[in-house]
Amino acid sequence: MSSIVIYFSRSGENYFGGELKNIEKGNTEVIAEFIRELDGADLFKVEPATEYPADYMECIDVAKKEQQSDARPEIKETLNDIAEYDTVYIGFPNWWGTLPMPMFTQLEQLDFNGKIVKPFVTHEGSGFGSSQKDLAKLCEGAEIKKGLSIPGADVYDVKDTVDAWILE
Ligand SMILES: Cc1cc2nc3c(=O)[nH]c(=O)nc-3n(C[C@H](O)[C@H](O)[C@H](O)COP(=O)(O)O)c2cc1C
Repeated sequence: MSSIVIYFSRSGENYFGGELKNIEKGNTEVIAEFIRELDGADLFKVEPATEYPADYMECIDVAKKEQQSDARPEIKETLNDIAEYDTVYIGFPNWWGTLPMPMFTQLEQLDFNGKIVKPFVTHEGSGFGSSQKDLAKLCEGAEIKKGLSIPGADVYDVKDTVDAWILE
């Protein structure tokens, strides 16, 4: 059984329990790295060709516009094939209620037939939002398992929770 984590995560300025802080590693990336450690999964980070602003307010503006125009922002590198994997973890921050648009760019390139998908999200209160509906479309043909939702401020404290979820 082999697995991969396909994820998006942004460092820079972000909100933690209502407070703005600058972080060097994004919250979702912390969980992705736990999964690598606990499940031996490969990691693939989806990175936009044009980086999002480090400034939080500017970033939420750019992200909102991309969502409203249903954009497919260019990504630095595209993963073309997941044939060798049985399980695909898909991780992302909740951005305006769903996945950041570069995840749409990436996931639309992949054939999910017969795969097991385990989604996880980090957020500031909205959990998965409507992302599970979007994931069902993006991962057509996959069996989508129960997702894991983690408040961004808690990511360093949930290794056991992640471990239990991997084994579910
Ligand atoms: C552009 C943008 C939009 C966001 N929209 C939401 C939202 O709608 N609901 C929510 O709970 N959190 C929202 N957040 C907070 C992030 O989901 C949260 O901080 C997450 O843990 C960030 O993960 P990352 O550090 O891996 O990028 C938003 C953050 C950004 C930057």
